[in-house]
Amino acid sequence: MKIKYKTYWRKSGLKKNWGNIFLNIVNQHKPNNFLEVGVFCGVTARNVCELLETLHKDNFKYIGIDLFGGKISEKENTPNYLKKQKFSNPFKSLYYNFILNENLNSIESVRKFLKKFSKKVELIQGNSNSVLKNLDLENIDFIFLDGGHSFETVYEDLNLIFKKISKKKGLIILCDDYLDAAYITGVKKAVDTFVNKNSLKLELVERRFAKIII
Ligand SMILES: C[S@@+](CC[C@H](N)C(=O)[O-])C[C@H]1O[C@@H](n2cnc3c(N)ncnc32)[C@H](O)[C@@H]1O
Repeated sequence: MKIKYKTYWRKSGLKKNWGNIFLNIVNQHKPNNFLEVGVFCGVTARNVCELLETLHKDNFKYIGIDLFGGKISEKENTPNYLKKQKFSNPFKSLYYNFILNENLNSIESVRKFLKKFSKKVELIQGNSNSVLKNLDLENIDFIFLDGGHSFETVYEDLNLIFKKISKKKGLIILCDDYLDAAYITGVKKAVDTFVNKNSLKLELVERRFAKIII
């Protein structure tokens, strides 16, 4: 099967070949129930849904958590692309900022973009450190952790997840920006501290993603 990450003329955290590398990791594990923390504009969500539909037809679910425009905590080192809806392509800027007047990181925009999969998708607006406390993770078999990138937020996300699924063998938690993201320093420390504390296995993928195997 040929796997190709598409950007759908939106913005994505997985640029260039990173989307393909990411989708190949998901395809290796073939999860049925996927959780993404940090949906951004929904591009990775859409690619995951397209892949899971090809793999499992109707038998999959995608859950996405994001602030969707809510206030980002002071402790986060917010990447520039989140601060303003700027595009290097002037046609995109004209289209989204002036013709549609649409914020691509709003829950309404992402919902519209994922409409094709509306029965399979659940979007939750809020801070992951709160949302994860009340979310049922029992059936989740793959988590892409790409929300807040400070040590505190990532460490708390990981601990909240682990409290609920520590006995679930085979669960994959893929953390983005573990290495090679010079502007983000908290992810590596949080992942290392969490993995050591719980004696878990960690795999580094392409000097970017940290794959934690429960
Ligand atoms: C790097 S972007 C995610 C990129 C996305 N996974 C992709 O592949 O395109 C990070 C996202 O996390 C969200 N975010 C930041 N802190 C968060 C938090 N504490 N809880 C939930 N979402 C958060 C931001 O709103 C932003 O949309």
